Amino acid sequence: MLRGKRILLIIGGGIAAYKSLDLIRRLSERGATVTPVLTRGGEQFVTPLSVSALAGSKVYRDLFDLTDEAEMGHIQLSRSADLVLVAPATADLMAKMAQGLAGDLASTLLLATDTPVILAPAMNVRMWEHPATQRNRATLAADGIGFVGPDDGSMACGEFGPGRMAEPMAIVAATEAHFAAGPLAGKRIIVTSGPTHEPIDPVRYIANRSSGAQGTALASALRDLGAEVIFVTGPASVAAPDGVTVVPVETALQMKDAVMAALPTDAAVFAAAVADWRVASASDRKLKKTRDGMPALEFAENPDILATVSRLDNGRPSLVVGFAAETDDVVAHATAKRLRKGCDWIVANDVSPATGIMGGTENAVTLITENGAEDWPRMSKADVSEKIAARIAKALSDDG
Ligand code: C5P
Repeated sequence: MLRGKRILLIIGGGIAAYKSLDLIRRLSERGATVTPVLTRGGEQFVTPLSVSALAGSKVYRDLFDLTDEAEMGHIQLSRSADLVLVAPATADLMAKMAQGLAGDLASTLLLATDTPVILAPAMNVRMWEHPATQRNRATLAADGIGFVGPDDGSMACGEFGPGRMAEPMAIVAATEAHFAAGPLAGKRIIVTSGPTHEPIDPVRYIANRSSGAQGTALASALRDLGAEVIFVTGPASVAAPDGVTVVPVETALQMKDAVMAALPTDAAVFAAAVADWRVASASDRKLKKTRDGMPALEFAENPDILATVSRLDNGRPSLVVGFAAETDDVVAHATAKRLRKGCDWIVANDVSPATGIMGGTENAVTLITENGAEDWPRMSKADVSEKIAARIAKALSDDG
């Protein structure tokens, strides 16, 4: 499956471009979002209209198209994807890439991108076998560019040999293999994130200031390692990541139901700031000001989702991770919390105002496991997430 994957598809100028129309369909059917770029040469073989109709997206054609720059600059376009596919990749485009030339939109995007690139070359057999093309192929492979094809066979020009573009399904398979290659491929992981909103009446609620930034960064890091992520999120201010299954909820009770429905999973990471209490009898009508004074709100305790999942006899994920935000005695409190909740790890951080961590871009965490406490140096929240995701991958692979 390619659900949620964003693919920038560069269609070069070759007769094989007609196969790229089918490729767009196959990728889209599998849930990928295809953003097409058509080179001047590509336009000679397929029309911008067919490409954009099949992709359900605008087709990008010109480096100096000011409307495009206003909507999305070429640098941003080059980085807005999880993968750049070039199909067909012509001898000319390969040569430009190998030289680092950036004279048109396609080559500029390929030079500016920081995402993986896969080429599906297509050209006449002599052109493919020419030492110059083979030099370029080796240079590009050494640069980390992936290749699918070319295939052997009869060519539109009447010759026979290597140079035919790989079939669309082979390109799809290479794309799927690319995304499945991470150490968490085949693993399902729940991530809870954001605050919960506990209604008082239809228009008022009790909430907290969680932005969902840490949970979102974690979900992205786990996805990047190939995990299937079920992202159960309260009303967060940070947008949910692409490429994960988003289950939006409002209340702690809904969050618990969504988590239980997503089980069984290999791991569960509870990064949500769940409200400890809810209003016991939330009104289904807006509460009015009355002469009798203010309404008295009664509270009921919310279920502790982390503790509930940690203590499941049946279907407990093999790794359960909780978070602890503390302001003092971080290690002692978090160590006690790990035992109280019954989870495997606690990721603890000091959120006392002096640290500047709350609402900031950096974090300094201590990982509490059964083997004790491990202090990690201060780093960006994205780096913390990558490090946690790598540890989760290791733990799950040690687990078998
Ligand atoms: O008890 P405390 O709220 O400090 O514990 C924090 C950890 O417990 C976090 O991982 C949080 O997501 C989880 N939690 C939960 N359900 C609750 C309260 C906290 O899953 N009702």
